[in-house]
Amino acid sequence: MKILIINGPNLARLDIRDSSIYGDFSYPQLVAFIQKSAKDLGFDADVRQSDDEAEIIRWLHEAADAHLPVIINPAAFTHYSYAIRDAADLLKAPLIEVHLSNPMAREEFRHTSVISGVSTGTIAGFGPNSYLLALQAMKSLLQK
Ligand code: DQA
Repeated sequence: MKILIINGPNLARLDIRDSSIYGDFSYPQLVAFIQKSAKDLGFDADVRQSDDEAEIIRWLHEAADAHLPVIINPAAFTHYSYAIRDAADLLKAPLIEVHLSNPMAREEFRHTSVISGVSTGTIAGFGPNSYLLALQAMKSLLQK
């Protein structure tokens, strides 16, 4: 089972982001955790990160064409990128939105997700385990 996992802007710099919010994992450690979790659940995961909105949109178009399931942490794009929302809406397979932190417990501008409305569901606030939970949820969605 192929799956595309997209991480948005600034996530590659978890090493210098606030560890009281994002935890102690570096980005390479997060990717290793996601890849191992995916493999254990029988997924062939393609994990990508970009700070560039256009690149994320291109990846979503590719996933739409290939009917691939997607897990996305859109990072700050979550809160305002209608272009990523419109691209996500083109997907044919399920989309799960994930966040390391719980945006609803943070600043008010993070309380809006323009992505949630086109996602099958959202998992937030569990650190790296948000990705594991999303992979488990995706597996059960795809087995239905
Ligand atoms: C985030 C939450 C967003 O509000 C923030 O802009 C991020 C990371 C998270 O994983 O908790 O960059 O998506």
